[in-house]
Amino acid sequence: MITIAISKGRMQDDALALLAKAEIRLSPAALASRKLALPDETGEYQFIFVKPADVPVYVEHGIADCGIVGRDVLLESEADVLLPLDLGIARCRIVVAALDPDVITRAFGMLRVATKYGRIAGDYFGARGIPVEVIPLAGSVELAPALGLADAIVDLVETGRTLKENGLSVVEVIRETTGLLVLNRASYQLKAGEVTRLTSALSGAIEGVTAA
Ligand code: PRP
Repeated sequence: MITIAISKGRMQDDALALLAKAEIRLSPAALASRKLALPDETGEYQFIFVKPADVPVYVEHGIADCGIVGRDVLLESEADVLLPLDLGIARCRIVVAALDPDVITRAFGMLRVATKYGRIAGDYFGARGIPVEVIPLAGSVELAPALGLADAIVDLVETGRTLKENGLSVVEVIRETTGLLVLNRASYQLKAGEVTRLTSALSGAIEGVTAA
């Protein structure tokens, strides 16, 4: 049996839809349940539903053989996992946003950046030689500039609606992020046949999505 860790939340529906296209699906009863570990209809796979940041942790430790998680989460994580496939789902951008679009050029001294992506923000501004104070927040980051906690934020943008409704504009795009399939290193060796079957089925489903 292959255990797949699925990110709960924004990625979950797209991940389950893609797996269903690959003929790996939960029964309607399982889908309706609140259980966090469920077998698929064939019993070949087990799904576990965990917080996005925990997907790389479960996969690195081999509790899950593989996981579906956003690149944003993986960049923020230090987990050692293999990355065989970009699933192309849940496409978003990681951006710098602010009330003032010229905030970076106008900043005196340290730029205060609120984010739940401390590592991505630190790496991005560090590489450009811009001194920043990273202010870690767990969510609702878009509030920080208007309330004076930060000069800018680094956050995920999908439709742009949250930024707009909180008076923020995109200052710079750091990078695109999509859902990725990540693999445990040992599972890749020890369950090579099953893993290859899964990645082929998902690749086929992605091509189907693109062609549709
Ligand atoms: C994400 C992100 C933004 C929002 C962007 O938050 O952090 O707040 O979605 O989406 P939009 O561009 O379509 O408006 P999420 O819903 O993951 O919750 P969070 O506030 O806990 O970060």
